[in-house]
Amino acid sequence: MTSPIQDYLERLHRELASVDDGQVATYIPELAKVDPRRFGIAIATVDGRVYEVGDTRERFTIQSISKPLVYGVALEDRGVEQVRRTVGVEPSGDAFNSISLEPVTGRPMNPMINAGAIATTSLVAGATREERLERVLGAMSAYAGRTLDIDESVFESERATGHRNRAIGHMLRNYDIVTEDPEPALDLYFRQCSVRVDCRDLALMAATLANGGTHPATGATAVRAEFVGPILSVMATCGVYDFTGEWVYRVGLPAKSGVGGGIIAVLPGQLGIGVYSPALDERGNSVRGVKACEAISRDLGLHFLQPPRVTGSTVRASYTLAELRSKRRRSAAENRLLAEHGSEVRVFELQGDLHFATAEPVLRALVDDARPLRYAVLDFKRVSDVDRAATRLLAALIGRCAARGQHLVLTRVRRGRLLAALDTELDPRTAGAFSFQPQLDLGLEWCERRLLAAHGGEARAPGITRLAEHRLCDGAAAEDVALLESLVERRSYEPGTLIVRVGDEADAIYFLMRGEVSIVVDLPGGAHKRLSTLSAGMNFGEMALLTGARRSASARADTPVECCTLDAAAYARIERERPTLAMRLLRNMLLGTIQTAVQLTGEVAALEG
Ligand code: DON
Repeated sequence: MTSPIQDYLERLHRELASVDDGQVATYIPELAKVDPRRFGIAIATVDGRVYEVGDTRERFTIQSISKPLVYGVALEDRGVEQVRRTVGVEPSGDAFNSISLEPVTGRPMNPMINAGAIATTSLVAGATREERLERVLGAMSAYAGRTLDIDESVFESERATGHRNRAIGHMLRNYDIVTEDPEPALDLYFRQCSVRVDCRDLALMAATLANGGTHPATGATAVRAEFVGPILSVMATCGVYDFTGEWVYRVGLPAKSGVGGGIIAVLPGQLGIGVYSPALDERGNSVRGVKACEAISRDLGLHFLQPPRVTGSTVRASYTLAELRSKRRRSAAENRLLAEHGSEVRVFELQGDLHFATAEPVLRALVDDARPLRYAVLDFKRVSDVDRAATRLLAALIGRCAARGQHLVLTRVRRGRLLAALDTELDPRTAGAFSFQPQLDLGLEWCERRLLAAHGGEARAPGITRLAEHRLCDGAAAEDVALLESLVERRSYEPGTLIVRVGDEADAIYFLMRGEVSIVVDLPGGAHKRLSTLSAGMNFGEMALLTGARRSASARADTPVECCTLDAAAYARIERERPTLAMRLLRNMLLGTIQTAVQLTGEVAALEG
């Protein structure tokens, strides 16, 4: 099945192929040889999908589209200050080859007109011409995601006829904007313009800019993310020369055109467009290229000043500990305490990218909470990125929490990938106001402990010696318990032992007398997920008595553990000889199962609500 996007591009291509206005560039003799009917359109998304139609694999020279890319090279090599001293960022409203400099400083108005581009190219670092060429070609190749080369005949043709650019270069030297012999910079400029690309390359170059400087398919960094904003700014304000105002109005995407017939347009964070059609208008912009970008922007709703609203909530689920607990099973007294005070802990399960617009509702929810929280848990499992602004806001939030005696628990943060800059943004005095937990469940348990400690203490189940004290024997007659005692086997386990293994035959029920046992399931990739943690007086493996099926989860001793086990044959005997005891055991097991079911129902309601 073809994608509707592909169908759309094919329709647009058919429509615009009949447009035959414009002329190929002739001022570089070699460019005059190009077939004006050539036409390709490509769109590349930031996750690397390319839609293409027409002559998208036909090679042509990149020309001025090299200018924003080399501007990025200069920013990386010399830093913002030196580059800004050399070239301005004001739209000139002039033609690309205008001989105009700022009156007082002698700086070119911007890096997109030739004067600014040649000055920019003079800033590329490298000890020799070869090194500087390598630097430029390397960067441009990283944008394309493949090794690019130079069309030598176009280069020679422009070098031989580029008197106007040569004049501009020497004028820049006169004003000390170019500080050395301008000829090597001119040579490099002619070469960067003669780099061969195709339409698909252009779309991927644009998508690399849309993707913060990282190529969507290769993952290589073409330009450091901090310089993408500056590059796109000059593209937005000066990218199509004296047509830029009209372009922003009609298309609304930072863009750059070249006299080779190419255009790139960038929708930051989303996609890049590349169009190739060599017939140019009087300003040197591809006629069909302009029309194609205008149509795509209009039809797909891409104007950067009319962005879609931020949709989808960052908060995927929010609940308090009164509604949803950790997997640790608690005593009735602890459960009562947690039900009473659980609303002092609120969990926010977050999702998507966190930036100002998506982080703000989370902060608001926390700050505006009518009942001041003691603990807030922020779960990052489904957060894909946190930008610097959101990191800063989070650090400030931690500061506020510290001042109000609150604590933030950050769970499932992929350290090193998310919140890498948190430490630098934090006031060190607030460090005690937050902590990390590798699992949401462990974060919940941590909060439960603190809450129980604050309200009367967590009662560590002390351990029991006699079955009469076990929950399953509640209400059983003394002689029934005595019979049970005679039928069970007492077993001890070291911490870490698997008491029951998933897939084993289910042959006995376990009465936990001392220590803690976690019921865990294996996840793909070798990880485990805990389903519950049980303590003395609780039971597991009861399914063995009723179904005889295989174990569906494993039981692991977390501490030294003692259990009484009752095997299926012994239970069958109880059913035959002492039905009152069998009834009692089943009734108490059912009570435990009901308790679990009630808890699960509450969890579903909390997660759905
Ligand atoms: O400087 C020149 O004349 C060319 N090598 C590049 C000009 C260019 O692509 C202008 N853009 N539309």
